[in-house]
Amino acid sequence: MSGSSDAPILGIETSCDETAAAVCSASRILSNIVLSQVPLHKPFWGTVPEVAARAHLRWLLPVVERALKEAEVGVADLAAVAATHKPGLIGALLVGLTAAKTLALCIKKPLIAVDHLLAHIHAAFMATDATPPCIALLVSGGHTCLYRVESLLEAVLLGRTIDDAAGEAFDKVARMLNLSYPGGPAIEKAAEGKRPTIRFPRSLLGENSLDFSFSGLKTAVLYYVKGQNGRGRSEPLEADVGEIAASFQEAVVDVLVEKSLRALRATGIRRLVVVGGVAANRRLRQALACAAAERRFELFIPPPHLCTDNAAMVAALAHHLLKAGRAAPLSVDAQPN
Ligand code: KG4
Ligand code: ZN
Repeated sequence: MSGSSDAPILGIETSCDETAAAVCSASRILSNIVLSQVPLHKPFWGTVPEVAARAHLRWLLPVVERALKEAEVGVADLAAVAATHKPGLIGALLVGLTAAKTLALCIKKPLIAVDHLLAHIHAAFMATDATPPCIALLVSGGHTCLYRVESLLEAVLLGRTIDDAAGEAFDKVARMLNLSYPGGPAIEKAAEGKRPTIRFPRSLLGENSLDFSFSGLKTAVLYYVKGQNGRGRSEPLEADVGEIAASFQEAVVDVLVEKSLRALRATGIRRLVVVGGVAANRRLRQALACAAAERRFELFIPPPHLCTDNAAMVAALAHHLLKAGRAAPLSVDAQPN
């Protein structure tokens, strides 16, 4: 099998708190294993970098073995070995990248170093009918960015958050509301069937800005829950937790939709892809679908399991990097930022 243009590629993803490995033949997923570290980080309400790196070290090889076994692919069949090399937590990245380098060296196959953000965008190209050029809204725990995507391998940054990422805001507000970690799914669940009764601020940063800011919204929720001094309120809350969650979610969704519309208008592009963990949010998906129908643009969102961190997007993007002759030297570095 090796040598053919669709020979399988092993992808490894360890940039944050999922230990993931997958085998793809071009965009076809042969296996996609994601071991979530959420139970380890839950007590801390966030990812603890050293805990993440140590867990990757413990679990990566069993996860890789399982990905190869499920795909029914032996290492000798692989066309290349790919791993995320940026951006992410440095200790976490180093585990996956070093494993990929070692395997590539042993089996004498090319190493492909993959940009996590381009891989998230690629999830839309592998799982939907989207093609470049398009606008990509990437909304995750670490990133909130808008890109003009020129090709499968190139994206130009149009705007990004100047403070918190959208997913981070979900995680922090979930903590304020005593829900659970990760905050996105917890807030979505608490908001189900609830009305967004509280008008929290939507920060749009000026008329034409494509940047984002969520820290004001986060502080507004804090003041609402804890009172103006942040220490507690004398009077009881008028809204219940579900209504606060729904109101916060609605404010984030409004901003994400408005900024996406601005990017489409500014570039004249009529195609939007939405990726990253927050793209799993059903209220966001629904609001974007309404906007797409009203404003007549094409909308593509991968299924939720390809929105959150996974290695299938890494292996699938690696296929195009390999085809373009963009294998990495074994000296390639992990880059946290
Ligand atoms: O892309 P991802 O898995 O990892 C990063 O690269 O950050 O995104 C994780 C983020 C977390 O902040 C999580 O709370 C958020 O995505 N998230 C959601 C939902 N599912 C995950 N946010 C809103 N609604 C969801 N259903
Ligand atoms: Zn991610």
